[in-house]
Order: sequence, then C-alpha cells, then structure tokens
Amino acid sequence: MTELFHDPGSARTWCAAVRADGRSLGFVPTMGALHAGHLALVRTALAENDRVCVSVFVNPLQFDDRRDFERYPRDFEGDARALAEAGASMVFTGSLDQFFPDDIPALRDPGPRAAGLEGDLRPGHFAGVATIVARLFDVVRPDRAYFGQKDFQQTLVVRDLAKALGYPRIVVCPTVREASGLAMSSRNQLLSPAERETATVLYRSLEAARALWVKGVRDARVLADAMRGVLDRSAVAVEYAAVRDPEKWTRADPVGPLERGVALVAARLSSVRLIDNALLDGR
Ligand code: PAJ
Repeated sequence: MTELFHDPGSARTWCAAVRADGRSLGFVPTMGALHAGHLALVRTALAENDRVCVSVFVNPLQFDDRRDFERYPRDFEGDARALAEAGASMVFTGSLDQFFPDDIPALRDPGPRAAGLEGDLRPGHFAGVATIVARLFDVVRPDRAYFGQKDFQQTLVVRDLAKALGYPRIVVCPTVREASGLAMSSRNQLLSPAERETATVLYRSLEAARALWVKGVRDARVLADAMRGVLDRSAVAVEYAAVRDPEKWTRADPVGPLERGVALVAARLSSVRLIDNALLDGR
C-alpha cells in the first residue's frame, strides 16, 4: 500500500511515525514526470531501507528560466501509479506556500562546488536546489537520500548540504540511459523522435573523452576539445563541454594532468536544455 499526501504536513507526520517505530527511512526527492532513472533510485532505496518515501514537486525556486518551469512535464497521477507499482511506501507533494508557510525564505548558499558549469550558466539554480532539498530533508528526516549521477554537480551541492546539516547519508546512483545512450530525463518528453536521435550526441561526446582517457590523455583541455569535435558536427547548441576532477571541483578548467576525471556536457536542442556526464575512469 502506497500512502499519498498532497501536503508536506501529513508527510511529516507519517515520516515521524516511521522513525518512532524504529524503521529506517529512505528518501528520493524528484520533480515528477518519472522515468526509469527515477524508479532505479526508488528500487535502490527499497533495497537499503525499511520504508521509502518520494517527493514530487516542481520547485520554482530552482528554475532560472520561467518558460522552462511552465512547460516542465507534470503528471502526478501517472507518477503515483508508477511509484505504487515500484513499491514506494509513501509519495507526497505540496505547493510552494505549503513548503514555506512563513513566506519564501532567503535562499541557501549552495557552497563553493556550485561554482562553474551549471552554477555559472544557471544563476541561482543551485541556491534554489539547496533551499528546497534542505526543506524536504526537514520534512522527511531520512536516514538515507538518493540522487542520480545524471546531475553530477547537484550531487556535490547536496553532499555539502548534508554535511552542513549533519544528515542524511547521501547515496548517488548511476545514470540510467536509453539503449541509444541518451540519458533518461523528464525533458526528453519535449523532444521529437528525430531530436531524441540527435540528442545522443551528448553521450557520444562523453564516449570520445573516455576513449582518449583510456589511451592515457589526462589534459582537461584536450579531452574537452575532443568532446567539442563530436558536438560541433551536430545540430545541438553547446553550452559547455568540459572535464573536471570529480573530487577536487574547480570553477575553471583544471590545469596539469588529471588523476581522476569527469566529463560534463550541456547543450540545447530546439530550446530544450540537456545535460549529461561520465566518470572517465569508469567508477
Ligand atoms: P529530477 O530532475 O526530477 O531528478 C530527481 C532525481 O532523479 C535526481 O537525483 C536526478 O539526478 C535523478 N535522475 C534523473 N535522471 C536520471 C537518470 N537518467 N538516471 C539516474 N538518475 C536520474 O533533480 C531534481 O529533480 C531536483 O533538482 C530535486 C533534487 C528534486 C530538487 O528539486
């Protein structure tokens, strides 16, 4: 039986009862329009916790582009059905007013790892993410929270947030892809079949960086140039193609040979913004 709540207050009470029973609680925050990537997080959470709760909330605080917010796909009924089938214990949503009854809060400082790439291209985005995730954590008070590697820089911001709060344990799960390599994303729904095919170039650019990495190339600029080479031959408008040290995050391109690498890409295809990334040493 999957419980369904349309307000964070009821969700808070349900979560408190789970904890009072001495059961472990896993949490998967989402913005809905769920796909196999989200459901993989839920399955991992179910394997590691007694109960799993999922939030579905299209958080306006993290959208730097109003049109992107307005046309973000929404399907709460469909999401609730998919989550019930997956075996989630509880699903909740709420309005911005319900999450922040005492007015919109001052946004949280998302920390130093919000700088660069996504943080530079989407001003305020990670402050909005950190603010809602802190509030969601406060509602649920989970033992573990599950995030996808698909949003690599978000996992860094969330890890820093959890460290500052003292909880929960953050679990990062691998990116789930279509057979074509395209990373699953709620925004893929906004692409035509032909555009979905074009969008596979993001994955191919990551593979180009990985192929060079395997040959021993460790220069971030050279790896990024190889990604560009692949992307420039397609119809996508590249926002960035870059390589960073996943552990020593830097705003700018790292200089000198890398010990570890993560390749990251963002591009627009007919105004839909897509991102993807890959750890180059295969971890
Ligand atoms: P959303 O984009 O709905 O993603 C919810 C979670 O699913 C995130 O942790 C994201 O990284 C993960 N995810 C998305 N696509 C994935 C894929 N193809 N494979 C694996 N995991 C995937 O990220 C957000 O929502 C919001 O920023 C949120 C954290 C909910 C705060 O509003």
